[in-house]
Amino acid sequence: MANTLRYALITGATGTFGQALVQELASHYDHFFLLGRHINKLEVLDDSLKRANCTATLIPQDFTAPFDLSILRNHIHEKTKALHFFAACAVTHPKAQPFKDVALTSWLQTFQVNFSVNVMLIKGLMPFFQHDDLAYLLFPSCRFLPAYDTAYAASKAALDQFIENVAQEYVSRPHLKWCLANPGLMQSPLLQALYPGYQQKDFPLARERAQTLLKHLFDNTQAAQPLQKIDLDKPSSPFTIEH
Ligand SMILES: NC(=O)c1ccc[n+]([C@@H]2O[C@H](COP(=O)([O-])OP(=O)(O)OC[C@H]3O[C@@H](n4cnc5c(N)ncnc54)[C@H](OP(=O)(O)O)[C@@H]3O)[C@@H](O)[C@H]2O)c1
Repeated sequence: MANTLRYALITGATGTFGQALVQELASHYDHFFLLGRHINKLEVLDDSLKRANCTATLIPQDFTAPFDLSILRNHIHEKTKALHFFAACAVTHPKAQPFKDVALTSWLQTFQVNFSVNVMLIKGLMPFFQHDDLAYLLFPSCRFLPAYDTAYAASKAALDQFIENVAQEYVSRPHLKWCLANPGLMQSPLLQALYPGYQQKDFPLARERAQTLLKHLFDNTQAAQPLQKIDLDKPSSPFTIEH
């Protein structure tokens, strides 16, 4: 009998947006591969998934430490041959400071977490997307890239450009839905770090952002373009979808 269970993998699952996304995805997917740095935080998320009748494989991993992709692949293989949703929510944001004062190791680690790990994951996990079911690959982008955040800004811009290019290479695989989505500013430590002067309460909760984003992602399955761009922070409307 065909395996009808649906599988999702989320990095940064214990973060503000990652957690919200997992909770919203619980009604769409059956099993979650959850990556985060701390097992205790992953266990809390696992409990909430159990209450939603989902199961999870918890994978604690710090992306600045050596990362053996074959271990991750084995975890997935034990459960399934196919992934149906991937979201890259792990992100790091070092203290904002003038470039002349930034330690090079910190700059490179930011690039590792925000960019290079995603390149590794796309390459290494692609066999799990070689099926004919609809599969989404979601990459949160960020339009708010202030000065003194060179590593964060450059790594986010690099990821956006990489996804723009790589999605074009999969144009003959229309079941793969690549998505670059700016979820918009939301109440989060990242907002606090990027804009310390902003009042958190003036911004939506991550759960609202995740819900809106997924609605637009899932409502556009007919789009023929290989890459869908969603921006929940465009000033002209609460959301705008570009293709
Ligand atoms: N928040 C916003 O207002 C906003 C606005 C626009 C775009 N975005 C985008 O949304 C995405 C998620 O942002 P967020 O606000 O959810 O960030 P967040 O709350 O800071 O969460 C970041 C996640 O990444 C994990 N992480 C950090 N360093 C790591 C490392 N070295 N190795 C492995 N995992 C690591 C964190 O793990 P721990 O839980 O262990 O810390 C956490 O799960 C990002 O791509 C961001 O650019 C956010």
